[in-house]
Amino acid sequence: KRHLLEAADLDRDDATLVLDTAAQIDQALAGREVKKLPTLRGRTVVNLFYEDSTRTRISFELAAKRLSADVINFSAKGSSVSKGESLKDTALTLEAMGADAVVVRHSASGAPHRLANWVRGSVVNAGDGTHEHPTQALLDAYTIRQRLGRLDGVRVTIVGDVLHSRVARSNVGLLHTLGAQVTLVAPPTLLPVGVGSWPAQVGYDLDAVLPKSDVVMMLRVQAERMNASFFPSAREYSRRYGLDARRMAALPDDAIVMHPGPMNRGMEIAAEVADSVRSTIVEQVANGVSTRMAVLYLLLGGNT
Ligand code: CP
Repeated sequence: KRHLLEAADLDRDDATLVLDTAAQIDQALAGREVKKLPTLRGRTVVNLFYEDSTRTRISFELAAKRLSADVINFSAKGSSVSKGESLKDTALTLEAMGADAVVVRHSASGAPHRLANWVRGSVVNAGDGTHEHPTQALLDAYTIRQRLGRLDGVRVTIVGDVLHSRVARSNVGLLHTLGAQVTLVAPPTLLPVGVGSWPAQVGYDLDAVLPKSDVVMMLRVQAERMNASFFPSAREYSRRYGLDARRMAALPDDAIVMHPGPMNRGMEIAAEVADSVRSTIVEQVANGVSTRMAVLYLLLGGNT
């Protein structure tokens, strides 16, 4: 495969190969002072970010550098995008400079798919609008497997602003492919039209679902993508759909709490939950580096 644009690009074998490769990379680098492999020496990875990011941008940069690739970080702010240059012309300019892979984040759903038609190199979707964020789903699957030892049959409850969440879309697809059972819990106004055709159950009562969850994944309420009529009051939202210590106590003993970040502490997740031993939030960030190394390595066919 040349690109990673959405979770559906990966069948079960592909996804398992990425997770296994990430595990091998973690093993290879464990205990090393210099956390670097020579596999992508001489290759160039461009990080093309049209939308803000902390975790994804930095972890792709670190992933490419740890594979010894040359890295170009492009942010729309401060570039010729402000003079009206299009995504296509920007991408062709970067390709002319020798990009082997373009990692793209864009506020428009479908932008990475367009890009894949224009450039010869690999395109990796680092989050497009409300559509998909496949490498987030891979690092989440990796984290679940690392903590619980399996994905098959694991009960994953995804809670909150599903409507605007590319993380939810990619996770539902990938976790289903890997054999997990996914339940979505959200206010009716924050569920997308057509959610009934997703490979997931839908519920509205978080307290009823928590005791039957091995994983609870809290989503950020994306206020910036909502108009006022959609935006619930923070207090009401938190009362019905927030994960606090009382609700966390209803989870089975070995259940874990996830959040892709950035978090609204005190809204969808209480600070004491985010910082608890059940929380995998920091592990998810660390696993993002090895998972993205695996994706770049497999797409670019690095030497062993
Ligand atoms: N989870 C995630 O995509 O975070 P960033 O927006 O900081 O990259």
